[in-house]
Amino acid sequence: MEDLKRINFSNPESVYNDHEKFKDVKVYVTAGGSYAAEFALGPAILAPEDTVLVHDWTYIIHLGAAYFRNAHVESYECRSDGKPDTDDLRKVLSIDPRLGRVIQAVIFTSIGNPVGAAMAREDIVDHLKAIGNQSEKEGRPIIAAVDPAYEGFRRNGNPLDPIEIAIEEELTVPLVVMDTTSKGYGTCGYRMGKLAVYWPKKFLTNYRTDYLTALENKLLPTLGVVAVPIQMAYYNFFQKLKEDKDLMKETIEFFTARRERINKNLVYIAEELRKIPGVYLAKYYDHAGENGGIDPNTLSSFYILFGFTKLLERYGSAHNQVVDFGEFALSVPGVPIINCVPAQAFLPEKRWAKHPALIRITGLTNKEETESFLGAVKAYAEHLG
Ligand SMILES: Cc1ncc(COP(=O)(O)O)c(C=O)c1O
Repeated sequence: MEDLKRINFSNPESVYNDHEKFKDVKVYVTAGGSYAAEFALGPAILAPEDTVLVHDWTYIIHLGAAYFRNAHVESYECRSDGKPDTDDLRKVLSIDPRLGRVIQAVIFTSIGNPVGAAMAREDIVDHLKAIGNQSEKEGRPIIAAVDPAYEGFRRNGNPLDPIEIAIEEELTVPLVVMDTTSKGYGTCGYRMGKLAVYWPKKFLTNYRTDYLTALENKLLPTLGVVAVPIQMAYYNFFQKLKEDKDLMKETIEFFTARRERINKNLVYIAEELRKIPGVYLAKYYDHAGENGGIDPNTLSSFYILFGFTKLLERYGSAHNQVVDFGEFALSVPGVPIINCVPAQAFLPEKRWAKHPALIRITGLTNKEETESFLGAVKAYAEHLG
């Protein structure tokens, strides 16, 4: 458990980090990032009259965790480069409670899903400061819940750890990090995650005690802290990494190659999709036209968002284009649609009209599949006329 405090699941090297620095971090092992979100937004902070604030294009489980408690979801904007906008966050946080609904938590994805934009360290600091300052002003906690699932895909290869940043910058904010091995370590579906809590002891101490007590009371009776085989396997793996320099070297090489392959392929797919008449990409990739080309920094995950102009004209922005494209692609033999979902699933319904309909696809890594997918998009765009 002590080791888990220091491990940033996107960064094998973090097992060497210094113990003392992370001593005030609490860690709960969870069944993936999804359960970490479920616990982070537990009933201790969220009741039906409450609000969770998310930036546009958040991950679906964040919405689910809020909806499950019958709570409300409000949004703040992303900037034109796809990064969550700190100025808008500050503005929304300082609005008087709407209909008596109080913002209890702000969730942000430090590096992207499904847009893909990577917040810089300063952006994360600004976000945490905005949330901490508002908590202090109101004399009650507003939880900063950060999802770093894709940190392993930072283009410079240096994943950021929001808890490490908060400790180094001595930030006063109730911070919870919902971490998962599913992206950084390529184990989608294996259910290995953790909820790490860093809430400075002197900040709103009574609330802190209540939050941690509620988490423990929730976890213990459900056997949440009993390790399952996948968690034991990870524990073993991390122990070996610590001891075996060759394994560390090989692991880093493996992840570096994987990240570079995925990142490169995503940019390639985006460039190719851009050339197809009748296809549009999410505006963020070229900063809503300001950039004149794809910014790789907004493709730091393994997804791309795109749509078909004709479908947008015909059916409007709330239409689910996946159904149309999916039907067409399924009728073409051999086209791989590995993961194709409506991007609206990543946006609260009341925001749909604000954004054109988008299809989210997983960045295919195999050359043949990529070409065949691009061929299907081209054929469908032509078919639409
Ligand atoms: C941003 C983000 N967070 C969390 C998760 C969920 O992680 P897990 O599969 O460990 O529940 C995903 C999965 O796609 C994700 O994209």
